[in-house]
Amino acid sequence: MELHRDIERILLSEEQIKKRVAEIGQRITLDYAGKRPLLVSVLKGSVVFMADLMREIKVDCDIDFMSVSSYGNGQKSSGVVRILKDLDHDIAGRDIIVVEDILDSGLTLSYILEMLKNRGAASIRLCTLLDKPDRRRVSVAVDYSGFTVPDEFVVGYGLDYGETYRNLPYIGILKPEVYTK
Ligand code: IMP
Ligand code: MG
Repeated sequence: MELHRDIERILLSEEQIKKRVAEIGQRITLDYAGKRPLLVSVLKGSVVFMADLMREIKVDCDIDFMSVSSYGNGQKSSGVVRILKDLDHDIAGRDIIVVEDILDSGLTLSYILEMLKNRGAASIRLCTLLDKPDRRRVSVAVDYSGFTVPDEFVVGYGLDYGETYRNLPYIGILKPEVYTK
């Protein structure tokens, strides 16, 4: 199929992801019993994870979105974090769960977490589908992590390369020639 043509291999299948997301949802359901967490999705990469995860969380919750830029169209972090779209909610006193697609250098996340802390949230936890620890440049505490992945560029399930491949249902590794096109 057209969309799969550039994929060298599948790292995490639809089934693997579905099972793990359900486990994380159950964990969050237990941890937030009697509370009403605000799930904060960092656009755009985490929307697929967010959409699946929120349906596995069985307590009342709110959702919100923010958009920052830390990457251009390429693979390298610029180290510059800019807010493109801020949250709609006032988060003072709220229990926040930041939902991310991938924790890579940690530069983006540490900036976001610091900013949310300064707005007076009651608690802030981080939930990331993927963790790429080899690439970390600043330490970030992860509360819920789906999978640890090797230091390879991955696409699919929300993750892009130059805005393509976000709609792949699995997470895969691109063929090397895609980068040299
Ligand atoms: P960092 O943790 O500040 O380096 O940036 C994390 C962001 O970079 C993620 O939200 C993704 O948008 C992007 N990113 C990092 N690694 C990958 C990858 O392997 N595939 C696709 N996007 C990635
Ligand atoms: Mg992203």
